[in-house]
Amino acid sequence: MDRTTLEQAILTLARDQDLLAEFRADPEAVGPGRLGLDAEWSAVIAGGDRDRLRSAGLPDGITILVSRWFADDLADSTSKGAFHVDTTTPLPDPDVPANLVFAGGASHVPDLLARPEIDPEDQVQRLLAGYERLAKDIAEADPDVLIVTADCHFQSFRTGAYVIGTGTSYSGSMEFFKRSDLDIELTGSPRFAEALVNAVRAEGLEVEESAEFPLDHGQIVPLKLLLPRPDLPVVPIITQPGRSFSPFGAKVFGEVLRDVVASRDLKVGVLATGGLSHWLDPGKFGKADIEFDTYLLQMLQAGRGTDIANLEPYALLDHGQYEFPNWLIMLGMVGPGVRGEVYAYEPMEASGGGWSVVNMLLPERAEGANDE
Ligand SMILES: [Fe+2]
Repeated sequence: MDRTTLEQAILTLARDQDLLAEFRADPEAVGPGRLGLDAEWSAVIAGGDRDRLRSAGLPDGITILVSRWFADDLADSTSKGAFHVDTTTPLPDPDVPANLVFAGGASHVPDLLARPEIDPEDQVQRLLAGYERLAKDIAEADPDVLIVTADCHFQSFRTGAYVIGTGTSYSGSMEFFKRSDLDIELTGSPRFAEALVNAVRAEGLEVEESAEFPLDHGQIVPLKLLLPRPDLPVVPIITQPGRSFSPFGAKVFGEVLRDVVASRDLKVGVLATGGLSHWLDPGKFGKADIEFDTYLLQMLQAGRGTDIANLEPYALLDHGQYEFPNWLIMLGMVGPGVRGEVYAYEPMEASGGGWSVVNMLLPERAEGANDE
């Protein structure tokens, strides 16, 4: 059942007390007949099940009507905040730009390279094996440029907006983690990056551009493990979750980038980095939210990654997902209906999070479509 139909049904019931009374008396007759619902979702609304409605992408500000106002459940006690993967709605056919040749996501935990010995060796090996598989995927896709999203750690920017790197080159250091031997030099792609900046601004969205900023573990860790050749041009994109956090906005940002990719004669890859769950808040470091991480990975596997953008900020932040907008930019570029394959997921206490590697299963690229 699509989100708009559900939302309209709830608002219609909220406006019409007589219809609501009829619906509550016999939801399976009124829902399908008068509101465009099916029997299952009629029962969800009649039962005041806000958890299911949230999983279908409805904002909490609307679904509170079904419990506190439709069912007079003043305590809102029937909904527990559980997350479901909705598989009742058929997936749309993917519509991925033919020249988007790779999309995936991977954690950027600094300990993985700086001091892997702090975590259990079998977990580290499984995680690294995931990176190895993803590295092969990127190499086989052979992109001309790789967009890499990460969140802000040690950089300093003027605004709270996302930042697109427009430099001709970048350098980054792992000195903060006592491993200057892991420093990196990367080639930029200034013309392509400028086109991305201009498209975002043309859409009326906020973006900061920066030709110079030091890379940190957000780029260094995944790219040390995944970059197929040292001279492959990259466009770093930085989110600033401490200053602005909008899951929906991240997806829309990715959708704008996707249009630019589709208009260019370039093979483009996009790598999201970060996450999944972890907390840097004082007093909270060290936990992983395995249950919520599993929900996110199941959503990706089900081809419903873009739907995660419908969650409101608190639902993600409460589960330690302040880096997930990095992934939502990638998912916005890919668009709906594309399934992800999880190469690795390891919750690690010492390095402090649920670390993951995912490859998006892009539709078969048309023969020759990627040739210059
Ligand atoms: Fe990060």
